[in-house]
Amino acid sequence: MKEFGVLSILLLGMACVSITDGKDVLKTYKNSLQQFHESRLISEEHHQVLREIQHMQYSGELKDALLCDLCVIGADALILEWRLDMSLDAIELEAIGVCTLLGIETGEVCRGVIERNIDIFDYIIRANPDLKGERICSVILQNDGCDKTVFEWTVDIPEGETVPRKNLSNPETSFNILHISDVHYNPLYKEGKLKDCDEPLCCQYDQPDGDPDAGTACGYWSEYEKADTSEALTDETIRKAAEFEFDYVYFTGDAVAHRVWETSIENNSESMKSLFRKMKRAFKNIPIYPALGNHEPSPLNEYSIGEDLDPKISSKWLYRLITTEFSQWLPKEAKRTLMRGGFYSVSPREGLRIVVVNSNVAYIMNWWLIHDDVDPFGQLAWLAQTLKEAEDANEVVHILSHIPSGKADLLQVWSREYHRIIDRFSGTIGAQFNGHTHHDQFMVYYSSKNTSEVTSIAINGASVMPDRSNPSFKILNVDEASFDLLDTDEWTFNLTEANQNGNQTPNWYKLYSFREEYGVSSLSPPVFSEFMPKLAANHSLLYNYHILRYRNSDLAIDGGCDDSCKSNYLCEIAVSKVGDTTQCEELQKIFDRS
Ligand SMILES: *[C@@H]1O[C@H](CO)[C@@H](O)[C@H](O)[C@H]1NC(C)=O
Ligand SMILES: *[C@@H]1O[C@H](CO)[C@@H](O)[C@H](O)[C@H]1NC(C)=O
Ligand SMILES: *[C@@H]1O[C@H](CO)[C@@H](O)[C@H](O)[C@H]1NC(C)=O
Ligand SMILES: *[C@@H]1O[C@H](CO)[C@@H](O)[C@H](O)[C@H]1NC(C)=O
Ligand SMILES: *[C@@H]1O[C@H](CO)[C@@H](O)[C@H](O)[C@H]1NC(C)=O
Ligand SMILES: [Zn+2]
Ligand SMILES: [Zn+2]
Repeated sequence: MKEFGVLSILLLGMACVSITDGKDVLKTYKNSLQQFHESRLISEEHHQVLREIQHMQYSGELKDALLCDLCVIGADALILEWRLDMSLDAIELEAIGVCTLLGIETGEVCRGVIERNIDIFDYIIRANPDLKGERICSVILQNDGCDKTVFEWTVDIPEGETVPRKNLSNPETSFNILHISDVHYNPLYKEGKLKDCDEPLCCQYDQPDGDPDAGTACGYWSEYEKADTSEALTDETIRKAAEFEFDYVYFTGDAVAHRVWETSIENNSESMKSLFRKMKRAFKNIPIYPALGNHEPSPLNEYSIGEDLDPKISSKWLYRLITTEFSQWLPKEAKRTLMRGGFYSVSPREGLRIVVVNSNVAYIMNWWLIHDDVDPFGQLAWLAQTLKEAEDANEVVHILSHIPSGKADLLQVWSREYHRIIDRFSGTIGAQFNGHTHHDQFMVYYSSKNTSEVTSIAINGASVMPDRSNPSFKILNVDEASFDLLDTDEWTFNLTEANQNGNQTPNWYKLYSFREEYGVSSLSPPVFSEFMPKLAANHSLLYNYHILRYRNSDLAIDGGCDDSCKSNYLCEIAVSKVGDTTQCEELQKIFDRS
């Protein structure tokens, strides 16, 4: 499911309003603004240009540089509206108008999303009198060649070499952890509604009915596309997971549904509390360690940066909620950092430390980066310090973070600094755990000193919500001495078949064991130094990766995976620092030769 980029498209829309007459952009813009003030309508002529540009964007004709330029003009125009003291209501109306006219989303969705974002824009634009459109576009279009503003800062990392990794236990002793991610719990899911609705999320109680005979009706559990996790699927997944034995639960974020036009502090709180209640009840007293997802705040993606903010735009409520909900498993210091920025560290047993990072703050759809991009909350400095303390205490660390560090959703400089920290402390880090992509993935980190050496790995918990896949969770098997991963088992069921059988318990099955599937002895990083070139050379194994990535869903099988699809997966696995493809290109050379 695509993340919501409405505002960036809107900026583009505004840009087009302003370039209608070509040459004197500002003058034209002021004219159109004037017109808009008088008529409250966007003229047919403007509308036309907007559509053309939109068409160019969708058909790929809009090249990076042009897109960036258009964005800058649009963003500057938007800022100008504020500086001209245009009322917030008028700006909001204009934005909703453009969004609806262009058919980016339905009127209701446009309104819902824009209403929820406008106060944050208002704060950021007023708090930064020198703000230029360039800065806005360099954040949101980072991956589309827009680098007019360069974000550059570094974190102080304690000097020294990383310690050697601990040896695996001998004889092997281990314990289990349940890894569950991206539930996107949607109690408003309703069987029988229309599968292919106009909104970004379908199967909602207040949407039109589908036709079961024509195959357009949403099934009992969920659907592969544009659907979240129904109450029934949530309960069933938690019930099934609770059958296993494990000592802890890692929940890597995104509790809240994609009903993004109706988020609110109340609605999101209700949803999270309800999901956590279900998990706590089913897992009894087993500690649950949550990482926040980008869907938890309202509006989605927005993690406020700054002190003493109006509660309306501040994320404090969310930190308070998580702190309260999980307080029984969190020491005082963890609660303090959770309240500061949604990150914390806790040692659940001798020798193991869990460090949870709030990577969402560095998501390029977090407008607050426009306000302040420099190590928000001092979180990365804290991470480096916390790893140093763990190193000194001879502990091993598991890092939990919603967005994988190599995912281009993250601000490049943040990703680079995170990567530097991992490089420095790799020997202390057992493994990392992510969510967000909804795919079953793993990611390798290469040493900055030796480009053949894998120094850290991250695995993705995939997702409970389908998103073209079958619903799933993972049982992680962890070595008792090194806290390296020995194996991961993924559990799933066939959604097509389950929906055909209505409310009968689905046929859960073990999709795969990592060790068996990939023929490795464990998931220790040194194992991956040897394994990666083998994977790159083995086309059939990369095809298996494709199937597992989607948990054997009919959609993925039907879609297939050709050579370019397989080769791209190598870059998904071997890019752990945004924008750095050197390692994956090496692997692709092996792929091409094989
Ligand atoms: C790990 O195992 C190796 C080889 O068996 C041994 O030489 C080394 O001392 C062990 N390291 C630790 C920290 O026990
Ligand atoms: C919360 O969700 C309910 C149910 O969909 C909806 O009617 C209500 O408008 C939502 N609240 C807000 C503030 O969006
Ligand atoms: C680099 O790492 C690889 C894989 O771990 C190892 O075989 C090789 O000896 C290392 N090279 C150096 C110079 O340390
Ligand atoms: C899933 O179930 C459907 C319906 O029974 C079946 O057609 C399909 O082949 C199954 N998929 C897999 C991967 O077994
Ligand atoms: C490639 O992977 C498959 C498993 O999918 C395995 O059976 C086969 O032996 C591997 N081939 C090579 C050359 O390693
Ligand atoms: Zn998600
Ligand atoms: Zn997410």
